[in-house]
Amino acid sequence: MTSFLEENKRTHYLNELATEDIGNEVVLYGWVDTRRDHGGLIFVDLRDRYGLTQVVFHPEVDPRVHELGHHLRSEYCLGIKGKVKPRPEGMTNYNLKTGEIEVDVTDFELFSRSKTPPFLIEDETDVNEEIRLKYRYLDLRRSSLKNNIILRSCVNQVVRSYLSENDFLEVETPTLTKSTPEGARDYLVPSRVQKGQFYALPQSPQLFKQLLMVSGLDRYFQIVKCFRDEDLRADRQPEFTQIDIEMSFVTQEILFEIMEGMIAKVWYEVKGIAPKTPFNRLTYQECMERYGLDAPDTRFGLELNAVTDVFKKSKFKVFNEIANAGEESCIKAINLKNAGDMPRSQIDALEKVVKVYGAKGLAYIRIHEDGWQSPIAKFFSEEEKKKLTKQLGLEIGDVILFGAGKTKIVNDSLGHLREHLGNKRGLIDQDLFNFVWVVDFPMFEYDPEQKRHVAIHHPFTSPKSEDIPLLETDPVKCRANAYDLVLNGNEIGGGSIRIHSEEMQSKVFKLLGITKEKADQKFGFLLEALQYGPPPHGGIAFGLDRMIMLLTGSTNIRDVIAFPKTQKASDLMCNSPSPVDTGQLLELGLKVIGD
Ligand code: AMO
Ligand code: AMP
Repeated sequence: MTSFLEENKRTHYLNELATEDIGNEVVLYGWVDTRRDHGGLIFVDLRDRYGLTQVVFHPEVDPRVHELGHHLRSEYCLGIKGKVKPRPEGMTNYNLKTGEIEVDVTDFELFSRSKTPPFLIEDETDVNEEIRLKYRYLDLRRSSLKNNIILRSCVNQVVRSYLSENDFLEVETPTLTKSTPEGARDYLVPSRVQKGQFYALPQSPQLFKQLLMVSGLDRYFQIVKCFRDEDLRADRQPEFTQIDIEMSFVTQEILFEIMEGMIAKVWYEVKGIAPKTPFNRLTYQECMERYGLDAPDTRFGLELNAVTDVFKKSKFKVFNEIANAGEESCIKAINLKNAGDMPRSQIDALEKVVKVYGAKGLAYIRIHEDGWQSPIAKFFSEEEKKKLTKQLGLEIGDVILFGAGKTKIVNDSLGHLREHLGNKRGLIDQDLFNFVWVVDFPMFEYDPEQKRHVAIHHPFTSPKSEDIPLLETDPVKCRANAYDLVLNGNEIGGGSIRIHSEEMQSKVFKLLGITKEKADQKFGFLLEALQYGPPPHGGIAFGLDRMIMLLTGSTNIRDVIAFPKTQKASDLMCNSPSPVDTGQLLELGLKVIGD
């Protein structure tokens, strides 16, 4: 006996039928989205990936089919055969692509029943995310999530075609690889064959892509999973996807141009708008001075102003001390325009925002018609007031917020305060996509905990040639050929021009406190490869998940990943991580010792 499926091939997806199809016999498959049983007539909105179509079980069309139709419930999966007809006068649904027609069911097959779902399958939902993650396959039936997945697939295709057209080869690199120092914590995989030995899951294919350049493959890309065991945030997952790219004989300029072409094409294909190229650029230094952060949101002003010099002789003790505390301290101000009516309580709330980032306080001045209102203005001399007025362009109605202390903390706290105020005060045009290349990152920063220099990008990044002498004298002042692509305050990609000399690579390892022995043990294969004619090369990796977040307007990275993990890195659907059998552990030569 042949089945309904074999006999009745699907004729249309559920977003396709229109008035031209009236009178035709059609076969449709889908799920019961909603069902309205009026006793006489049963209306079912049938749903598939593509859309909705209303089908009608009519006693006069077929009493047996109508009778069976009473048993349909939400999320049952079925196939129907029927005839397309116009909706009755006044019943057109203009919100629906198929809203002018409906289908009279003449036969149907129930493929499967559904239990009552733990939440309603609808666009907007306030159902607890844990339940949605546990039943992710049902959550993905909701059009908002489903559309994110569809858009993501589209981006993958655009990226692949653009890069292939530009001579990039798609090459797969290993997932079971080697644990290397630097970067985040690794996910480890024990080897059974070689007990006591471990693979690491790649934090990125960085070294493999560089080796592919040594191989002469010239241009490489891969849409690849990366694994990092780090503290998770709204825009971080333990396993995430990169569009990973490497090119030989490349300069920063050439790379930017090709990458801008890719980004513009993606935005054009999925949003219908091509961002203006070339993208703006900011040096890391400028970012820090003006925005306090290395991934600034440039859609609004509220820039930071250094006012350290104003307070060199101040009677306000806190500011005076900081103004004279040397290079690593500063005082910066943000001028909030048109905020004269901001109540004290709101200003106090802002102090809580900066304290999260280690600031000691948030001094303020309200520029009022009757003078300067502030707990600290009484300490300011006329000259200081004059200087501030001039430098900050002060007017009645302004509120000035001050951060003073270690430059790192001032930048970080005021930078985040700026973003907070931009959002809170509605200063951001949500339709803008502001791409900025942040360039000239420093090579290193000093980590007081580890008491050594660490690489800001990664240890394979080359120094700017004019700064090479600083490697010997003042490494933290040495700038790197490293860049990030920032979009609306989010780092969506980062890369660098690499070191292609074994000598320089060894020197950088040394500066990072990686001994020759350790370098040989961990990166020996790279140092070796650099002795066989490596081409000058460089690359970049884009965070695909973050790109999709920004393209879809999602604020939660989980909403753009089919099967994401929670903040605690668990998969609530599969229940992973989970314990394994003692037998499995024994085979690996492992014993769990607990906390
Ligand atoms: P980097 O570490 O900057 O560079 O990573 C590149 C981009 O990947 C995204 N990203 C993440 N997205 C989601 N969850 C995470 N946990 C996460 N971590 C990073 C960011 C980031 O800009 N090998 C180098 C690239 C290179 O030099 O070519 C690298 O991995 O958007
Ligand atoms: P105090 O003299 O500690 O009462 O502080 C007076 C004002 O200066 C308060 O509004 C504090 O929030 C602010 N303040 C204190 N320390 C700092 C600092 N390091 N940076 C900015 N404001 C500060």
